[in-house]
Amino acid sequence: MNVEEFFNKVVTVRMSPDESALDIIDQTLLPGTIKRIEISSRVEIWDAIKRLRVRGAPAIGVAAAYGIALLASRIESNGLDDFYAKFTEEKDYLASSRPTAVNLFWALDRMDRVVKNHADDSPDDIKEALFAEADAIREEDVQISRAIGEIGFGLLRDLKRNGQAVGILTHCNAGTLATAKYGTATAPMYLALEHGWAGTDMHVYCDETRPLLQGARLTSFELYHAGITTTLQCDNMASILMRSGKIDVIFVGCDRVARNGDTANKIGTSGVAILAHHYGIPFYVCAPSSTIDMDTPTGEQIPIEMRNPDEVTEMWYRERMAPEGVDVFNPAFDVTDHGLITGVITEKGLCHTPYDEAFLDLGMGP
Ligand code: MRU
Repeated sequence: MNVEEFFNKVVTVRMSPDESALDIIDQTLLPGTIKRIEISSRVEIWDAIKRLRVRGAPAIGVAAAYGIALLASRIESNGLDDFYAKFTEEKDYLASSRPTAVNLFWALDRMDRVVKNHADDSPDDIKEALFAEADAIREEDVQISRAIGEIGFGLLRDLKRNGQAVGILTHCNAGTLATAKYGTATAPMYLALEHGWAGTDMHVYCDETRPLLQGARLTSFELYHAGITTTLQCDNMASILMRSGKIDVIFVGCDRVARNGDTANKIGTSGVAILAHHYGIPFYVCAPSSTIDMDTPTGEQIPIEMRNPDEVTEMWYRERMAPEGVDVFNPAFDVTDHGLITGVITEKGLCHTPYDEAFLDLGMGP
């Protein structure tokens, strides 16, 4: 299977052929089982986001966009005001699924604007426009990831010396399974393949990413299938890798970047950044502009999702590995201080500190 065939097989979100449901790959079953499922009711869509059947900030945005389009298509209303009230109820419900990834709210806001901009049209026209907007969000995500990949690939090319593989470390999964195609943190790697690099020209080290193992189950799975030299390590092994000189650069994704550059990403990311700072390794955040939240001044204001303790006390395959009743600390994300970030790679350009000015220069924000 070539990379393109693999991308098609694991498409995160699309409409089912008869447009009656969202067709998603159930990421909770990976890597053992590649299974697509159809989700159709409001509860199924909410639950798929909450339980990480579909996950990763951009993919959550795409799922929310198609989800609200689908739910809106079933609204029966007496005129526009009634339609909008029911639409808002569905939108608020989907928005309550996960708090940290701003793409969820960004996508739902974008869908909301479609309804407002069609205030003179019939509900049927609005329903059609909502599906068109969801298609646009998905297609833009492909192009945005590609643009991030081109910039990231430029950085990789600069690091390539004496025919040696470039050592890259990544945390969690900001790959094709988290987006509509190329991933964000993985986009530089996929673009490198397109630019003629062999899978052996780079060596990607994937943090397993406890507790839910997105690095092991998803990132190492997709990079391995793409033919990229990939090594999986436990999270507490990143330090020895960096110390031994195996890591030239770090690429991570993000769930929300505050105006000052503070970045929320999967729990453990800030530790990777602190280590990278210690060892003098460049640490890049790959951020579509939809993940940059200019309304959130600093990381302090980013809501961090707290998840079920079972995710810590039981292994992924549900074997108990801690005593019943033990207290558990299980935040799903942490915030990396902007001072530890070498650069934020957006589709519009590479940003450096001061990030608020750099983001504004690239046209983000009000
Ligand atoms: O809890 P998850 O699996 O949704 O967390 C995903 C991450 O933290 C990703 O790194 C982030 O969403 C960026 S995806 C391009």
